[in-house]
Amino acid sequence: MTYQPGPLQKIAASVKLGENVVINDFVNLYGCSIGDETKIGPFVEIQKNAFVGKRCKISSHTFVCEGVTIEDEVFVGHGVVFINDRVPRATADGALQTEKDWTVIETVVKSGASIGSGAVIMCGVTIGANAVVGAGAVVLVDVPQGAVVAGNPSRLIRTISGGAEESGGRGQSGDS
Ligand SMILES: CC(C)(COP(=O)(O)OP(=O)(O)OC[C@H]1O[C@@H](n2cnc3c(N)ncnc32)[C@H](O)[C@@H]1OP(=O)(O)O)[C@@H](O)C(=O)NCCC(=O)NCCS
Repeated sequence: MTYQPGPLQKIAASVKLGENVVINDFVNLYGCSIGDETKIGPFVEIQKNAFVGKRCKISSHTFVCEGVTIEDEVFVGHGVVFINDRVPRATADGALQTEKDWTVIETVVKSGASIGSGAVIMCGVTIGANAVVGAGAVVLVDVPQGAVVAGNPSRLIRTISGGAEESGGRGQSGDS
């Protein structure tokens, strides 16, 4: 059955919604894909070419921009900001920039990860499976699976069992 947006929800026809998605009021969705049973809090914006998996929780006031992929069962806290342009400019050659003037840099949040409220996720990073990003963190580099990171710039606090030491991936280390 097609989802019928409430009067205070803006859900473009281009949005692909899974089954039993829960959407609060004052949400703005366009050109994105939302998986089954995911819950989206109020005042969330999710842009085109962003993908949110199944059974995710996207808390109020979060901004998910173009180029972000959020896999299944991810928790995103309140007021989390994703970024897709490392050096943004308003204009090019004296005119307002259009999409032709810049390139989206993609970001991936792997399954089961959690992102604390107020975190800022720089473009181009991968947040590993089951990792936890602390409230207010500014994440500039990849977060290994199972890592708990916090701070600005975010640093490794600890590892959840089955996590970073076993991942062997590029990313944050605990030695600074
Ligand atoms: C990151 C987090 C998971 C760490 O929890 P924890 O493992 O219990 O860590 P602790 O509280 O024992 O703190 C460990 C160290 O990290 C620091 N720290 C913890 N959270 C931090 C944060 N968000 N930013 C900066 N430093 C943080 C602590 O000050 C402490 O430092 P110290 O060892 O120098 O004293 C937690 O603090 C957090 O930020 N959770 C997100 C909560 C959230 O946003 N929920 C959203 C829904 S309401």
